[in-house]
Amino acid sequence: MKLFDVYPLQPITIERASGSSVWDEKGQEYLDLYGGHAVISIGHGHSHWTKRIEEQLHKISFYSNSIQIPLQVDLAEKLGRVSGKNNYQLFLCNSGAEANENALKLASFHTGRKQIIAFKGAFHGRTSLAVSATDNKNYIAPVNETENVTFLPFNDIGALEDHFKKDGDKIAAVIVEGIQGVGGIRVASNEFLQSIRSCCDQYGAVYIADSVQCGYGRSGKFYSHDHSGVDADIYTMAKGMGNGFPIAGISIAPHIKPKHFQLGTTFGGNHLACAAALAVLEVIESEKLIENAAHLGDHLQTSIRAIPELSDVRGYGLMIGFDYTETISTLRQHLLFQKHIFTGEAKPRVVRLLPSLALSRSNADRFLQDLRDSIQEIQSAS
Ligand SMILES: Cc1ncc(COP(=O)(O)O)c(C=O)c1O
Repeated sequence: MKLFDVYPLQPITIERASGSSVWDEKGQEYLDLYGGHAVISIGHGHSHWTKRIEEQLHKISFYSNSIQIPLQVDLAEKLGRVSGKNNYQLFLCNSGAEANENALKLASFHTGRKQIIAFKGAFHGRTSLAVSATDNKNYIAPVNETENVTFLPFNDIGALEDHFKKDGDKIAAVIVEGIQGVGGIRVASNEFLQSIRSCCDQYGAVYIADSVQCGYGRSGKFYSHDHSGVDADIYTMAKGMGNGFPIAGISIAPHIKPKHFQLGTTFGGNHLACAAALAVLEVIESEKLIENAAHLGDHLQTSIRAIPELSDVRGYGLMIGFDYTETISTLRQHLLFQKHIFTGEAKPRVVRLLPSLALSRSNADRFLQDLRDSIQEIQSAS
């Protein structure tokens, strides 16, 4: 059997990793500013994370959700405290799409309504409702086509308010990324998120903050939506939560009450996943990684802004995007194959930086130097 070919692949095989470095099978080291797509939060193979998982592995790694799992309770308490949403409730699952799927379903159960507002440029995952709320026709199979989702322009308060005035009593939820990731690092303005909050309050809809990519400290606050100063009703999270161990969750405001069997999962919140997620939060706290993301992000953004060939530098913390010109269109490939630095991309010519939140100042400065050198090398070769 061969693999089902769903992605174009780089001709690189990574064999081991530590901190912000990964090594290929020939021993070549790469600086990882992509974090396996924003997944590596505390650094590859962090010793505390490895130890926690290893110790748990020797006790029990899985049992069904029909029994009490104190690790889940510990995780909920710790997440509530670190995220500053102590009175919220946690439901655990396995992936970002599943988190959004459950959040949207829960909003519909809670309100008894069907309509969902999503935004142009949004990516919420590949499962049925999550993909229906994703603004890319190529990902939506005929069976996922629905009239229950309306796409409004991102950051357009007028369009949002008009839609609520027209259909407010039918709207179950508004789902929004605090910073659109796949959409090219587009930051939701504070005013826009505040107006989502007021519309949801006025019309009884649920505000879902998709924090799968922009959450877990990456933006320099626990949820990037926190920059706006208003709370969402549900936060969805995944990527950085397990530092590569698959785990996801939704954090649910106290006014949304649980009912048995509305949500459920076999693997979600298993012992091993909880051990990994607890280790991540412990390291985020003890190593002050949210503060590091904020400071280093400011430093990177300021320095990238000073490079004339790059434009529209944007983002928060260690979720940074910038555009590059057609004349240096090979920039990302040059960084990868000449400088051995992994970066993320968005179309048409956007570099996305999604490194570990434990990135060091020296690695950030090495990247900046290699970025300037790469631009010069590409220009002088053309
Ligand atoms: C904002 C956002 N939501 C949801 C998802 C889906 O997450 P997963 O691939 O874990 O299902 C992603 C993945 O890139 C994402 O960036």
